Amino acid sequence: MSKPTTILIGSGIAALSCAATMPPTHKLLLITKQNTHDSNSILAQGGIAAAIDREDSTRSHINDTLVAGAGHNDEIVVKEAIEEGKDIIQKMITSGFPFDRDVHGTIDLGKEGAHSQNRIVHAGSDATGEVLIRHFLFNHPDLEIAEHETAVELVVSEGECAGVVTKQKDGKIIFRKADHVVLATGGCGNLYTFHSNQPTVTGDGLSLAYRAGARLTDMEFLQFHPTMLVKTGKCFGLISEAVRGEGAQLVDESGREIMNGVHPQRDLASRDIVARQLFKEQQKGHQIFLDIRGIPHFSDRFPTISRLCEKAGVSIKEGKIPVSPGMHFLMGGVEVNRWGETNIKRLFAIGEVSCTGLHGANRLASNSLLEGLVFGKRAAEKISNDFSTAPSVPERKDIIFDVPQLDIPRLKEIMTAFVGIVRSKHELEVAAKWLDGMSTKPIHVKNITNDELETFHLYETAKRITASALAREESRGAHFREDYKQTDPDWAGKKIIHEKGKLFTEQREGEEAACSIFK
Ligand code: SIN
Repeated sequence: MSKPTTILIGSGIAALSCAATMPPTHKLLLITKQNTHDSNSILAQGGIAAAIDREDSTRSHINDTLVAGAGHNDEIVVKEAIEEGKDIIQKMITSGFPFDRDVHGTIDLGKEGAHSQNRIVHAGSDATGEVLIRHFLFNHPDLEIAEHETAVELVVSEGECAGVVTKQKDGKIIFRKADHVVLATGGCGNLYTFHSNQPTVTGDGLSLAYRAGARLTDMEFLQFHPTMLVKTGKCFGLISEAVRGEGAQLVDESGREIMNGVHPQRDLASRDIVARQLFKEQQKGHQIFLDIRGIPHFSDRFPTISRLCEKAGVSIKEGKIPVSPGMHFLMGGVEVNRWGETNIKRLFAIGEVSCTGLHGANRLASNSLLEGLVFGKRAAEKISNDFSTAPSVPERKDIIFDVPQLDIPRLKEIMTAFVGIVRSKHELEVAAKWLDGMSTKPIHVKNITNDELETFHLYETAKRITASALAREESRGAHFREDYKQTDPDWAGKKIIHEKGKLFTEQREGEEAACSIFK
């Protein structure tokens, strides 16, 4: 009997965790549109949050996650993911994964925004993602990988996913039949002018899943990280929150500390709060810097960031890094259950492309690699217990994309100006009208270029985000509407869902929101 086949799309930590867990009873192929070093995970600086310290507890980590998530998390998912994540990290430590240690040999735990404890494990100082990805790839040399192969259509018949149509580097279109397909394609950072993502992260999985009939939810919740290194209008990349965790402060051109009096956790308040304050200061004409003068041996603790500064011509010695907020992470995505299953049988989504309910309305720092590790493993566990085969489907030949006639920099400008950190009904309507009025050109899959395909995915994702942001008539977590007050996070809100061309809302289960349960 032939083995059931799984196709994994993407090569970040969620994909590699899934691959590492899949038993030899199942055949696995990982496809990626560039190569295995082009995921967002490899850029991760900060680390992975895990309550491994004796003084810490998973209960405290859960509580911090729920408070940051502003009453929009799925409390069961939060509890399970944080407990399971801690077990995974402890097993990695036991098996010798090279997390950074202090001079006494104890795992060095960093601090990041909205955490009540030092609980961030990191590796290679500020190169956690790179060490992690290399470790997984090194330990799974037999993993079958198809690089430079782009997923162009999920093949779904009668509610079951039966494979994926892909386009190879030489333009050849093939149908890869599969019994399970796992999307691990990341988010959509490239929708914004300043962002921390790889250039390849263009909403592909979100758009493919939606086109195939999957439900998308929480698309309005985008996390803007407060500190991108931005100099003379150019974004050079992320300056990790771990830098503020080591004592750096956000100051304006005169040295005024901008988080003073804004929140009791000051520079380490949750990202939505810090990003909004920074935006507010910039609107008033202030220039914002990260003052790193108080951090001894900065280049040793943050070698990746030091190299970034050097590239940007920013002197570490002077101790002031120019920063601006930028798009970092999508809390929403393809709606999944606790195993990463979507509403389409045999189709899974893991990592940033998915919406598990772990992050709620605002992700807690360093919970994303954790989510990738946990849900990659879970998806593989679920799939490995299933030996059924997908139905046969006729080969699809007529795949057409209605490609918007726009240039991506303009799309980024519109999203940044009208669907950004602070939103209003009027601005969102301007963006929605601009998007809806866009003319499109039908292009057959055989003729479409990679750029046109990415433009299509970004545009489709932008429409879902804008429509959701208009539909959410409240301010909650990272979704801030200047025409609505902040909702009391004790009040569980609705979920905004996109499915098959329709937008509708569903009341979240329970009268009270998640964050009240641990008070
Ligand atoms: C950072 O290092 O600031 C980013 C970590 C994260 O996104 O959780």
